[in-house]
Amino acid sequence: MTRFTLNGRAVQVALPSGEPLLQVLANDLGADGPKYGCGKAQCGSCTVLMDGNPVRSCVLPLSAADGRTITTLAGLAEGGRPGRLQQAFIDEQAAQCGYCTSGIILQAQALLQRNPKPSDAQVRAALDGNLCRCGAHNRIVRAVLRAAKGA
Ligand code: FES
Ligand code: FES
Repeated sequence: MTRFTLNGRAVQVALPSGEPLLQVLANDLGADGPKYGCGKAQCGSCTVLMDGNPVRSCVLPLSAADGRTITTLAGLAEGGRPGRLQQAFIDEQAAQCGYCTSGIILQAQALLQRNPKPSDAQVRAALDGNLCRCGAHNRIVRAVLRAAKGA
């Protein structure tokens, strides 16, 4: 049995410990934020926070989550409304396909937690490993900087 906290809720899962965390989140726990992109830790669309640190849930075994705190996109909402960073993405229309957006927002959330006032270059460096193929990059960076300004 694997037990962890998912977006503030205690969950327990009786599945093989080697099952990819992404699969468990999506198929068994109704967490539809993280997306399956490459399945090889290359694209970042499956990014979630584990104890506040971004991890690629497509290659992380379920066992790695035992006793940890996992945050998905839904966990950033505040009182049923979009959180500050989510709202900034909405305000900047910082998504085209939206497929990569959950992972990018969580990667950005981790950045803002360790550096609440990042520069443009620091935002770009932090998001470098999260692939967006459709050209929303500049709006994504503006959204993160907008959220940082509101901090
Ligand atoms: S789906 Fe996990 S990094 Fe691409
Ligand atoms: S918004 Fe998803 S690939 Fe660009």
